[in-house]
Amino acid sequence: MDAFYNILTHAHSGLRWLVLIALFIAISQTFAKRGKFGNIGETKAVLITFILTNLQFLVGLILYFISEKVQFGANTMSNDIIRFFTVEHALMMFIAVALINIGYSKSKRATKPFNISFNFYLVALILILISIPWPFRDLGGQWF
Ligand code: HEM
Repeated sequence: MDAFYNILTHAHSGLRWLVLIALFIAISQTFAKRGKFGNIGETKAVLITFILTNLQFLVGLILYFISEKVQFGANTMSNDIIRFFTVEHALMMFIAVALINIGYSKSKRATKPFNISFNFYLVALILILISIPWPFRDLGGQWF
């Protein structure tokens, strides 16, 4: 279980960068095409971001069941690290991934898809940035 946990935490930690890079490119590409007619497939980073964030969500979900930083009990709310991962991180990331899923599926059906994707992905990016346990937040998170 230890090796499995190690692989997953490292994958989850590293994937954050791929998610952030893909999101940033998707947001720039859709910004450049805002207001135009077209197909969301023209901005490939939008699909890549959708796949990467859902993958990150799945890894996070497994971690939620095996990590010691997720605990339900008397110390859930009093311990900063446990509260962060049990409540704040999971909830905010869940909302962010939901926004990316909604944004992607709405933009697939729209004739002017880029604004929709841009708006949803931008809000998701902000939520993700404020919900990552960056090392300077003293939540035991690493850079990689
Ligand atoms: C885009 C979405 C997400 C991003 C960018 C993200 C990013 C991260 C990062 C950077 C860490 C710290 C890794 C480290 O420093 O070693 C982390 C830890 C964690 N994440 Fe996420 N996460 C996301 C979604 C989720 C979701 C949806 C869940 C649960 C449902 C989740 C559960 C966890 C747990 C339990 C940990 C603590 C793992 C441990 O160290 O024991 N994450 N996440």
